[in-house]
Amino acid sequence: MIMPIANIAIIGAGTMGQGITQLCAQYGYTTWLYDVQDGAAEKTRQRIVQALDKRVTKGRMTPEDADAALARVSVANSLVELAEADLVVEAIVENIAIKRTLFAELEGLCRADVLLCTNTSSLSVGEIAAELHTPQRFAGLHFFNPPTAMKLVEVVSTDATTKTTLQTLHDFARSLGKTPVAVSDSPGFIVNRCARPFYGEALWLLEHGAASVATIDACLKSGGGFPLGPFELIDLVGLDINLRATETVWRAFDRHPRFRPSPLVADKVAADELGRKGGVGFYRYDDGHDEDPFPLAPAGVTSVEEVIAHLPDDLAQRCRVSDGRTAAELAAGRGQAVIVFDTLLRPWPNDRSATLAFASHGLDAIAHERLVEAAAAQGVRLIEVADRPGLIVLRVAAMLVNEARFALDEGIASADDMDTAMRLGLNFALGPWEILKRLGVERIRTTLGRAAEEDTSGRYAQPTS
Ligand code: NAI
Repeated sequence: MIMPIANIAIIGAGTMGQGITQLCAQYGYTTWLYDVQDGAAEKTRQRIVQALDKRVTKGRMTPEDADAALARVSVANSLVELAEADLVVEAIVENIAIKRTLFAELEGLCRADVLLCTNTSSLSVGEIAAELHTPQRFAGLHFFNPPTAMKLVEVVSTDATTKTTLQTLHDFARSLGKTPVAVSDSPGFIVNRCARPFYGEALWLLEHGAASVATIDACLKSGGGFPLGPFELIDLVGLDINLRATETVWRAFDRHPRFRPSPLVADKVAADELGRKGGVGFYRYDDGHDEDPFPLAPAGVTSVEEVIAHLPDDLAQRCRVSDGRTAAELAAGRGQAVIVFDTLLRPWPNDRSATLAFASHGLDAIAHERLVEAAAAQGVRLIEVADRPGLIVLRVAAMLVNEARFALDEGIASADDMDTAMRLGLNFALGPWEILKRLGVERIRTTLGRAAEEDTSGRYAQPTS
């Protein structure tokens, strides 16, 4: 039986508590907000007033609906006032001892059928629940920031969580206009784990001098349909937060080399270069890095094969789209120069110019210049990068797919839910399984296999299945 939910208690009136409270109130739930700090919940209620006002000003909500939503938000001055809640969402400090103490207290106060949820992003849901008498009604309900806008909710189950609890939470998330995905308790759940290679592999390429920050970002945006490049995203989220998330997942997986935190991020954090919030990260934000110094016409082509077809014959016959092998490997025994182009995960939109990485072996300077010019005439900016397996897009994609394969093997979520989570949680154009479908398993295997020959740390290990 699905449990009826009407009254929600939100504990912790910080960034997430504020958003979750506003969201629930907007969708018709009676909400009670509690914070351990005196006056904090009331301050947050005032911020919700301002946020609702803004929605009204922007025409996204009627004044009547905003008033009605606000009337559904009450401040609780003690935990005892939350005794009648149907559902508790905890969004307090990320500390397991404090969370455990809170839930032990709530168990004693609340009704026997209350559902207890944590919004933790990095702690084990099972460990938070370990000392509860009724862990069957406990789960993770992981909203993304800002909860009012982000469509995804990860519903995290432990071995003890009942089907009824999970079904109720999925329905609850849907009632808030969200898309829930099912994930079993495991480090980083889906998004925070499966996104690690997006940053990690880009950092590895940078660390090994394969390409610059701007090139890696430009290629992934253009060829991968990622709305932001990995370095732009790290700068946006904050290097300190990115580092903490990486270290947490790395430690949770017994320091597996595929999650190894990059010293480049640690060095920048030590130098207080934390990203956008401080004005400097991988980019500087005081001189408008967004401007393109060499604008090209919109691409007249949508695929790498078309670029090759429009090249002069003597160049075209040396070109290949990457299958994971390097230009040097392909050139061996051929006696002529080889050019390898990076892969696209989806066709280029033809209303803007495109950026494409290539590597070459044995190409002379004149041929190089002719190649770049012939592509520029098609609206495609070619950037030469180090001749490494998978170049940029294929390589990062291969690692994203690989992590999803590990996660599927471990049974933490379905392939469909992983795709949904990566699209909605990170605004990726494609989830890892959709990427695999586009690229084919052979190219992924070859890229990882060749990368493993270069880097023998175990970073490029593949699941056995
Ligand atoms: P925050 O630091 O903005 O707010 C935490 C609030 O909890 C503070 O107001 C604090 O006074 C209060 N608090 C601390 N101990 C308490 C207790 N024992 N009882 C009641 N209130 C208490 O934190 P934020 O960013 O809102 O994160 C909250 C939770 O949500 C954490 O578990 C975090 O991992 C998770 N989360 C955070 C996201 C983010 O982007 N900030 C995204 C998704 C999850």
